[in-house]
Amino acid sequence: MIAFRHLLPRAAALAVLTMLAALPLAAGAQEKVLNLYTARHYQTDEALYANFTRQTGIKINRIEGQEDPLLERIKSEGANSPADVFITVDIGRLWRAQQAGVFAPLRSGVLEARIPANYRDPGGDWFGFSARARVIAYNKDAVKPGDIRDYEDLADPRWKGKLCIRSSGHVYNLSLMSSLIAHDGEARTEQWARGVVANLARAPKGGDTDQLKAVAAGECDLAVANTYYIARILKSARPEDKAVADKLGVLWPNQASQGVHMNISGGGMLKHAPNKESARAFLEYLASDEAQRYFADGNNEWPVVPGVKVSNPALEALGSFKADKINVAELGKHQPQAQKLADKAGYK
Ligand SMILES: [Fe+2]
Repeated sequence: MIAFRHLLPRAAALAVLTMLAALPLAAGAQEKVLNLYTARHYQTDEALYANFTRQTGIKINRIEGQEDPLLERIKSEGANSPADVFITVDIGRLWRAQQAGVFAPLRSGVLEARIPANYRDPGGDWFGFSARARVIAYNKDAVKPGDIRDYEDLADPRWKGKLCIRSSGHVYNLSLMSSLIAHDGEARTEQWARGVVANLARAPKGGDTDQLKAVAAGECDLAVANTYYIARILKSARPEDKAVADKLGVLWPNQASQGVHMNISGGGMLKHAPNKESARAFLEYLASDEAQRYFADGNNEWPVVPGVKVSNPALEALGSFKADKINVAELGKHQPQAQKLADKAGYK
């Protein structure tokens, strides 16, 4: 009994001392975090984040949302925003974010060495981490390979009443028109938009997948779509998607000229980022071989880092192509003219 009485308080005192010793350490050792605002929500992204945390010890707090509301949120949070990195899709949206002044330029030898110059902002505001192409799809029963070759041909009167394309105001089409402005000039692109309107099978409605379904259903012969939507249909086990895939042919436009219009999914470090070192570590991690595979494949896109191989049967089925090498930053600059000329041409 005596021994116990003696022992218990001593053990308790020791425990308290141990806790006291541990406390300043716990308060001092700041847990490293990254606050990520992302418009991407793909299953493989989970593995991407888990690997980053395993490698760096930096915990990721993720806020997912639609592209435009997320940017609005960053803008309205202003200097109080907890966001360190913003990830979104399409150069048009990265450009809008840049215009809104939300990014902080990041100089990174890793990112500059790994990401080709045409897929990142020359000033380091944003970086592309995966690439997609905008192609022409056709109904194999109605169109033969060689009947159409270039984006410019979509305005040919030969295709009157045969074209399905989503609205001009959508960023994917603004970026496509921006690329036509860069290569053909504004006047020719306005003419092109008029030709497109004249060739519409129906008033623009729905997303890219809706245009592909309309082609398969015979409502139109031609459609314009981003490659990952086609890959998604090619991969699908659903009978209705298989029926669509059977009807679709895919054409790589402008192979004898500048190459197919390429776009990116990407992001950058934010001006008010509270964890700038975490932001740098995360963005550099996204350019690693392993992350490139997860990031691109999550949405059936291509890695931007040369030499990184993705094994994705749907992408392989699309075949090889010549890509436009223009700096996508150039396509950002033309967004307002693209919208203006589409409006003038009556392309809604
Ligand atoms: Fe999309």
